[in-house]
Amino acid sequence: MTDNHPKLNKGPFTAGVCANKKIGESFYRLGLVFEGEGGQVFAKAGPGQFAQIDLAEVGLPPAEAIPEGLADASRRQILLRRPFSFCEVSVKDKKTFVDILYCVVGPASLRMMGLSAGNRISIIGPLGRGFWMPEGKKAALLVAGGMGAGPLIHLAKNLTCEQPGLKVTVFAGAKSAKKLPFKKQLDGVSQELGFSLGEFADYGITSLVATDDGSAGYHGPVSDCLRQWLNEHSLAGKDGIIYACGPEAMLASVAEISRQRNIDCQVSMERRMACGIGICQSCAVECRLEGSNETVYKLCCKDGPVFDSKEIAFSG
Ligand SMILES: Cc1cc2nc3c(=O)[nH]c(=O)nc-3n(C[C@H](O)[C@H](O)[C@H](O)COP(=O)(O)OP(=O)(O)OC[C@H]3O[C@@H](n4cnc5c(N)ncnc54)[C@H](O)[C@@H]3O)c2cc1C
Ligand code: FES
Repeated sequence: MTDNHPKLNKGPFTAGVCANKKIGESFYRLGLVFEGEGGQVFAKAGPGQFAQIDLAEVGLPPAEAIPEGLADASRRQILLRRPFSFCEVSVKDKKTFVDILYCVVGPASLRMMGLSAGNRISIIGPLGRGFWMPEGKKAALLVAGGMGAGPLIHLAKNLTCEQPGLKVTVFAGAKSAKKLPFKKQLDGVSQELGFSLGEFADYGITSLVATDDGSAGYHGPVSDCLRQWLNEHSLAGKDGIIYACGPEAMLASVAEISRQRNIDCQVSMERRMACGIGICQSCAVECRLEGSNETVYKLCCKDGPVFDSKEIAFSG
């Protein structure tokens, strides 16, 4: 039998760096460009999918640019590629532009910080199963915790382009206003709940901010902000869908809110990954077996990273 769905080559491809801009206190946005086959393959990268990036040969930034607390990490060797998802994918003049929003936390992301226009890096991808499009829904609620914003910016764009009738609302949470991973910082901005974060306002999407310390928007966890919004708005369970990306405790709370209200929910899980393609078994996610109390292990890199929240056996 002939296979009508030939598998896309996943690389490694070489990407050129076009920009690497600091965003706020702790984040960077890396702009990459792909040409040729890599360009064709990455043009199809969906929100929530990821790529494995080789940063082993990239030099460190100058000593004075290394954040406090990461001096030791900077000396660690990098043996494995690192997974990163995309916050924007666009195609122009047969080139594919892919942006990655990232936070500097260790040796690989430190080297990423030192990349500049003209550098070239090796990338495998796009990998994994990303967010899937809703069917028959009227409202999509996107819930981002910290770095989880990246793939949801990508998703917001696709939802507004592919489903113009869908009402999209974003809930973005962080420890404080300065730790929100968006272009425009919120210092001195009104303490009211409604914000217009540029990344979402570009697509006509309302965004709400929540901070743990109350320095902007709702004072408390972003999942509580979502719960309050649902209490104040009448949304029938079958009409809505929730998409969430962020720390696991946040995903567990959002999954519970969706269960109580019978709203479909997709969550993007994070695990340490070695191979990224389903071989090493290092990225296990405990999942429920439908209709039973038993659980099985699925692979975050291959079966996910996006899962139906009902599948996940969250701990605690
Ligand atoms: C599917 C997927 C998509 C991702 N997308 C992004 C993204 O868009 N932007 C971004 O900044 N980061 C993203 N990450 C996380 C990113 O892969 C890590 O931050 C990166 O590997 C860190 O490498 P490092 O060498 O700088 O730090 P490391 O020394 O490898 O890690 C630094 C610290 O972060 C913790 N850590 C690293 N990776 C993970 C993980 N997967 N789960 C839990 N804790 C972890 C480590 O335990 C350690 O404490 C993603 C991860 C996955 C699995
Ligand atoms: S990272 Fe190797 S199996 Fe998932």
